[in-house]
Amino acid sequence: MEEKIRQLNQEAREAIQAATGLEELKQIRVRFLGKKGLLTEILRGMGNLPPEERPVIGQLANQTRQELEDRLGERERELLEAEKERRWQQEAIDVTLPGVELPYGHKHPLRQVWEEIEEIFISMGFEVEHGPEVETDFYNFTALNIPPDHPARDMQDSFFFTEEILLRTQTSPVQIRGMQARRPRLPIKLIAPGRVYRRDDDATHSPMFHQVEGLVVDKGITLGDLKGTLETFARRLYGPGTRIRLRPSYFPFTEPSAEVDVSCTICGGRGCRVCKGTGWLEILGAGMVHPRVLENGGYNPEEVTGFAFGLGIERVAMLKYGIDDLRHFFTNDLRFLSQF
Ligand code: DAH
Repeated sequence: MEEKIRQLNQEAREAIQAATGLEELKQIRVRFLGKKGLLTEILRGMGNLPPEERPVIGQLANQTRQELEDRLGERERELLEAEKERRWQQEAIDVTLPGVELPYGHKHPLRQVWEEIEEIFISMGFEVEHGPEVETDFYNFTALNIPPDHPARDMQDSFFFTEEILLRTQTSPVQIRGMQARRPRLPIKLIAPGRVYRRDDDATHSPMFHQVEGLVVDKGITLGDLKGTLETFARRLYGPGTRIRLRPSYFPFTEPSAEVDVSCTICGGRGCRVCKGTGWLEILGAGMVHPRVLENGGYNPEEVTGFAFGLGIERVAMLKYGIDDLRHFFTNDLRFLSQF
């Protein structure tokens, strides 16, 4: 009997050592040490033993049970530890693997041109001002010398909310707001970039687009100041060889008024498809601030003069990059945008 118990001990140890999972260990415990297990079965024969041998066998059986329980516990800890290690290996981050390259964005081409224009004027001592996109009829038209029945209102198809409130059709109202906020301070040198809105929609017109307004007011400002400022601007923007020319024009808020051309950015003035053979491209409207506009801004036209200009950011960007359809700027097609 003693021999049988030792053999059982040996077999059980081998089984425990070979076990690869917790479930298997459980089955081994049941098979060897369970109520109906092999050890119990062996001990059933105790009755046949001489009385003096029984305690010896009993002690051996208990010792064996204890030993096997210890081995089972030990193996269980080993298996749990191994499982933990395996999971950790699986989840560990291999820092030597190459990274996933994420595509990253950049500023919209219009924003790039907007900032470039801003930087040029800031370097010339201009302040940057922002006016509201929802404007009153007064600031958008009347204060700019465009009275209610003036035909110039037809030039700008407007989005009205009420009879008095509209989406601004131009950045020019910031001229008035800028003067009113500063009067009687001199000089005024400001630009006002921002969105404007008109009921237009085709390859060269969008219902929302961007303008930059400029305003300079001081004692003794002349048309020469206007020309010099815009020439400096054009050379910074399009290169040192760029020339400008002023053509007489009409705007209600300036007198005299001019349309300003730059020598063609594509052919340098020789004549090409973009400038339609003329060698010139129109980029902005400008003029000497109308006395009535100065007055509406709170300045005395007998004491001060000024010049103003307005340019379209889309137009500047189209000429800079040779883009022929303005709608590309607003459809947000990444094939277009990623080129800038
Ligand atoms: N506001 C004009 C427009 O939207 C552009 C403009 C022309 C602005 C002449 C000016 C200017 O300040 O002097 O068409």
